[in-house]
Amino acid sequence: SNMTVSSAPGKVYLFGEHAVVYGEPAVPCAIERRATVSVETREDSRVRVSAPDLSLDGFTVEYGGNGDERPDVNVSEGLVEAGIEYIDVAVEQARDAANAPNAGFDVTVESDIPLGAGLGSSAAVVVASIDAATRELGHPLDPEELAARAYRAEYEVQDGQASRADTFCCAVGGAVRVEGDDCQHIDAPSLPFVVGFDGGAGDTGKLVAGVRSLRDEYDFAADTVESIGDLVRRGESVLAEADPTDHPPEDVLAELGRLMDFDHGLLEALGVSSRTLDNMVWAAREAGAHGAKLTGAGGGGCIVALDETAETETALRYTAECEDVFRAELARDGVRVED
Ligand code: PMV
Repeated sequence: SNMTVSSAPGKVYLFGEHAVVYGEPAVPCAIERRATVSVETREDSRVRVSAPDLSLDGFTVEYGGNGDERPDVNVSEGLVEAGIEYIDVAVEQARDAANAPNAGFDVTVESDIPLGAGLGSSAAVVVASIDAATRELGHPLDPEELAARAYRAEYEVQDGQASRADTFCCAVGGAVRVEGDDCQHIDAPSLPFVVGFDGGAGDTGKLVAGVRSLRDEYDFAADTVESIGDLVRRGESVLAEADPTDHPPEDVLAELGRLMDFDHGLLEALGVSSRTLDNMVWAAREAGAHGAKLTGAGGGGCIVALDETAETETALRYTAECEDVFRAELARDGVRVED
């Protein structure tokens, strides 16, 4: 075979991170920032991974890839090693799905999703890798099976810490409703997201544990988690009433933005915001965004704002704490074949 190229989107949380851990609903949304993975089968059963833009210098690694010889990566940057681990488990899932335990691949990974910033970069790489590799083997998977296998792959690398939201959202695209283990695609209009990134990342495990102990100790924290659930349900009904084929009218954006602002306030009360996230959120609001909130685990990383104008982007560019800013419309397509 010649080569198969698949891409998969990153995601932001419109509403509901953290509360989702306690069974409340959440709404992650795929965004038009993608990881692209090219896969070509080899004559032998080895795996060669090139990731020209996943680190400063890029890297190429080749290994036996038969389960006995694991990738031996001689690079110091943790994210790069993690990148290889994700490809390794994705290759295993593809071999298993296609019943081809000895298949070898040349894999090239490119991504325009900031790494480790809570935008689902690892889920996008895993989903696109499994998709391209199974297609190469003549055994394409439907998005639901792809999501399930990508979840297993992430679960393995992340020691059981993975949430189903990232891999499902990235495989299926659009807006998603998550509640417990149940993930469903929901209708949504074209949401004009703007993402601000402070260049850092929070420790998801620590932040989740922090909310858990706060919730055990204080009634207000348990109530706050429930309040987040309430406003997610409000947000879902706003989305359900908007025409999904259209750009959202001003009143829909205003209401969603308001709910995002409330959500950020509640997350702040749960202790998962940071000064840099708060500064970016306030810069977006002052620039006229309909609303702004942290996205993902918090502690650092990204905020998401709603603004169809360029004002928020411009304001964030002049915000000292903001290292990177970009528009990211809602991605209608989840994983897709490129070329
Ligand atoms: O930072 P992310 O994108 O991995 O999101 C974490 C979301 C949490 O709700 C905080 C944790 C979880 O697993 O749902």
